[in-house]
Amino acid sequence: MSDTSTTFQAPIGTHDVLGPESGQWENLIACFADFAYRYGFSLAITPMFEDVGVFNRGIGQNSEVAKKEMYVFEDRGRRLFALRPEGTAPIVRAFVQHQPTTPWKAWYVTPAFRYERPQAGRYRQHHQLGVEVLGTDDPAVDVEVITLAWRFYAAIGLKSVRLLVNSMGHDECRGAYVAILRDHLEANSSMLCDEHQKVWRENPLRVLDCKKASCIEVTSRGPMLPDHLCDDCRGHFDAVLEGLKSLGIEASLNPRLVRGFDYYTRTTFEFVADALDGAQNAIGGGGRYDKLAEQLGGKPTSGIGFGSGIERLLLARAAENDEPLRLVNRTLDVFVVDTTGEDVATVLVDALRAAGLACDRAYDRRSMKSQMKVADKSGARFALLVGPQELAAGEVTIRDLRSDNFGQAQQKAGRDDVVAVIANLLTK
Ligand code: HAM
Repeated sequence: MSDTSTTFQAPIGTHDVLGPESGQWENLIACFADFAYRYGFSLAITPMFEDVGVFNRGIGQNSEVAKKEMYVFEDRGRRLFALRPEGTAPIVRAFVQHQPTTPWKAWYVTPAFRYERPQAGRYRQHHQLGVEVLGTDDPAVDVEVITLAWRFYAAIGLKSVRLLVNSMGHDECRGAYVAILRDHLEANSSMLCDEHQKVWRENPLRVLDCKKASCIEVTSRGPMLPDHLCDDCRGHFDAVLEGLKSLGIEASLNPRLVRGFDYYTRTTFEFVADALDGAQNAIGGGGRYDKLAEQLGGKPTSGIGFGSGIERLLLARAAENDEPLRLVNRTLDVFVVDTTGEDVATVLVDALRAAGLACDRAYDRRSMKSQMKVADKSGARFALLVGPQELAAGEVTIRDLRSDNFGQAQQKAGRDDVVAVIANLLTK
């Protein structure tokens, strides 16, 4: 027999999101869904796990995430899968599989799994909101995707967000740049940080991202990618910068922004919230991946998108502003208190909900006092009280729970009229 005295906790680096905090999640997701809809995106839902090859080929098997952080498992049919560490490769896998008409614009909300060292703002299961566009390399779409994120952050009340941009070039100009960077790193390798002295050869671009003073000193004297772009990539990047400027979106060029996945080409970007601690202040990031569809077995197809961490967005909001996020109404209109033991409450809540109102009720035939406590805690605007007197008279007492003036806060209504009376009171 199993030992039922053991209790369980959510795994390290994961967390439960319960009410009322989950109300903020609902708000955030609803707001993002609304933005995505207004920008012409439709929702895409893909499996939480994929053949491990989707990620090894997609994000690159030498990327930190694929090498050290992916949750890989063999199923009972001995197939090797990975829990998704990010949302882009699965969307592109679905695009290659279904070949929808292009440009294809998909949005998603998804958990993502990375075996990281957990800390505030860094989890083993985090959640992302994101969009992807496949089938166009028009710089206007880069501008549109960045604009969607920028305006969404403003809509949820974030004030101090900075946009960092860079261009990774396409394969050829990046390849040529990496060769020059490699020479520079080789000549200065003894001055790199301990970690990069060992691994700079494997992925020289990663050294650009190192936060250690020694690596920053070496790379700041070295070549930077934007100075080595071919004419086409330069033209694309300039058009993106111009487009952002025409919309009044301030972008700062950051030639060190190389991002963590191998699929990126040309435009890359990150949004940083200054209210958060340096190591976890990226609230969103993305870029172009013009080779990814081919890497996953499809026809050559350009793509671009971004993902934003829900937890970090809410942390940034909380750090900037005490007010919880209230974009859609998630408060109760009515709480029904019924001490009669008849089925009045059952009938009332059904009628109120059918009329589109949000309502809840007490159960277990508790005392009036204890039901009223629950009603007060529920945040409902009105309580509907049904006691023996109301039952006999075919009436209901309506109490305004937000009024301090007890005398004015109560009124009676006939049971058949109560839905109309409440609907009317809610408009005031
Ligand atoms: P990413 O930068 O790895 O990009 O993740 C996107 C966002 O997810 C980050 O900016 C951050 O807000 C959040 N995030 C990432 N890891 C964690 C974590 N361990 N804990 C909490 N939040 C986290 C991607 O995943 C790309 N798929 C984005 C993209 C879309 N590129 C093109 N299209």
